Amino acid sequence: MRLKDCHNVQDFRKLARQRLPGPVFHYIDGAADDELTQRRNTEAFASCDLVPNVLAGVDSVDLRTTVMGREIAMPLMLSPTALQRLFHWQGERAVARAAERIGTWFGISSLGTVGLEEIGRTISSPKLFQLYVHKDRGLNDAMIEAAKAARFDALALTVDTVVAGNRERCLRSGFTSPPRLTPRSALSFATHPRWTLNYLLRERFDLPNLSKHVAQGSNIAISVASYLNEMLDPALDWKTAEKIRVQWGGQFCLKGIMSVNDAKRAVDIGATAIMVSNHGGRQLDGSRAPFDQLAEICDAVGDSIDVICDGGIQRGSHVLKALSVGAKAVSGGRLYLYALAAAGEAGVDRVLAKLKAEIERDMRLMGARSVADLGRTNLRWR
Ligand code: LAC
Repeated sequence: MRLKDCHNVQDFRKLARQRLPGPVFHYIDGAADDELTQRRNTEAFASCDLVPNVLAGVDSVDLRTTVMGREIAMPLMLSPTALQRLFHWQGERAVARAAERIGTWFGISSLGTVGLEEIGRTISSPKLFQLYVHKDRGLNDAMIEAAKAARFDALALTVDTVVAGNRERCLRSGFTSPPRLTPRSALSFATHPRWTLNYLLRERFDLPNLSKHVAQGSNIAISVASYLNEMLDPALDWKTAEKIRVQWGGQFCLKGIMSVNDAKRAVDIGATAIMVSNHGGRQLDGSRAPFDQLAEICDAVGDSIDVICDGGIQRGSHVLKALSVGAKAVSGGRLYLYALAAAGEAGVDRVLAKLKAEIERDMRLMGARSVADLGRTNLRWR
């Protein structure tokens, strides 16, 4: 399989699976417990159907929308994700450049493998910093200040990782950051020489936003679950969230809101956006899918805050359905990570172009000339 054979997210997933050592692939692909929630995140989009209107004169279609004060060229954003240089040596640099080229939001995680300063200096499209609140207060302050200095456009506070989800694929594979060579993993590295040589010979692995403060994850190999459990602050609460919002002082998003009550509290503490998200099914298995929760959340807060539907997106039609319910935009992680792992920057460019073309084609087929033309009247529930 080659890049030119990749026409949809599942194709990129297959190619990523070929290119990556097993433990790395399963870290991206896996989720918590029985992975029910991860599957539902995509399946949820099949619980309703689009009802097209015809003869709408769709010679031009406007995909632009404004999220957290920045206009983007299409209503699909790239969710922040961790450890990207493990998936392809170009890592966040490739994702950021592809996002800039197509004109949409992307994010850098606290557990990113490229520093905030460099991204701020090199990328002009809207960028978000994803904060994991650590027990080490000095580290939290340093990251917030670094994101300010690098002129990031928004801060997204992760609210769904006070304890790590039970990711059994990672338990079986022994995946750590940085990756450790174990008797069990040796064969998968040996049989993926291109990945392994890139890992060994290119820029040394690092989590530059953290590694001046904590050695775990960069100089000390640790599983992601142990990292979240040992390093993050389980006492994180609404009061701290509000303090961080004030300290940041700009566009502020809560990533991982699933209930109407919490969506209302997000408005109360002055958040400007929420990502309706269950962390790609990687945290609480058996929890609802973002798309299943979207209507009630948009009804409650859609007029006061930007609602972003995060997770499960694999098709342009999924984007149209979420927008029809009332989301300002959608976002996804795996959808571009598979492409990054499959082919670096060219892969991310290709998957984004494919998804943008799907959104545009589907808008035309729906008779929608702009995203404002989409609404609940063009959806029927099964
Ligand atoms: C994960 C965290 C690190 O889901 O975002 O693996």
